[in-house]
Amino acid sequence: MFNGIAGSYDFLNHLLSLGIDRHWRRVLIKHVLKRNPNNALDIATGTGDIAIALYKVGVETTGIDIADQMVEVAKSKCSKLKKSSIPLPGFLIASADDIPYPDNSFQLVTIGFGIRNFENRKRAIEEIFRVLKVGGELAILEFAEPRNKLWSSIYKFYFHNILPLIGKLISKDMDAYRYLPESVSQFPQYKDFCNELETVGFANPKFKPLTGGVSILYTALKT
Ligand SMILES: C[S@@+](CC[C@H](N)C(=O)[O-])C[C@H]1O[C@@H](n2cnc3c(N)ncnc32)[C@H](O)[C@@H]1O
Repeated sequence: MFNGIAGSYDFLNHLLSLGIDRHWRRVLIKHVLKRNPNNALDIATGTGDIAIALYKVGVETTGIDIADQMVEVAKSKCSKLKKSSIPLPGFLIASADDIPYPDNSFQLVTIGFGIRNFENRKRAIEEIFRVLKVGGELAILEFAEPRNKLWSSIYKFYFHNILPLIGKLISKDMDAYRYLPESVSQFPQYKDFCNELETVGFANPKFKPLTGGVSILYTALKT
């Protein structure tokens, strides 16, 4: 599905979120910098926005994703970046449920709007725990359904009616943007997702609702 929309993904992301997706990624970057990581794995990297943002703040980053066309877009964006003292982000075609790195490899693992799509989420979280170093952090951005009733009905109308229509017109793929609201409603949110992280062994899972809970920053530590 993501290979089919790779060419229009970035444009639609910014359009459909009215540019707010940039703010959400900035919140994640600001948060993860507090622990001063010097390397990171960005899982479900897609067109590479989080990997690129981490590179720009001096964190050596590798992105993995199963959709080669999305990764091609990421590589092309990276080829236009200014060189710095650290290597440009590297990319691999690989799945979250079989991460091709040894145990204790990364100080930071990030996932932006990807975990909702994983077919085997528990296995992926176990894999993330394995490749994180002790003291390392997991930071995840994911959509949720706002809890405020009024905001939730505006959100639902937009997500179920407007978004699939614009998505179809531009990407020519009706299913991809109908899939989005469906997958959000099926994903465990807030405390429920924190509990999943705890079950696998993560410590101190936290959630921070963004834009009234349209998106959430989840964080947890490997201690
Ligand atoms: C909505 S995009 C998110 C892209 C990017 N992280 C962002 O913030 O815009 C979701 C990505 O998850 C990837 N994906 C889905 N299942 C995956 C898996 N099991 N392992 C790695 N990537 C996966 C898809 O190929 C897609 O590129």
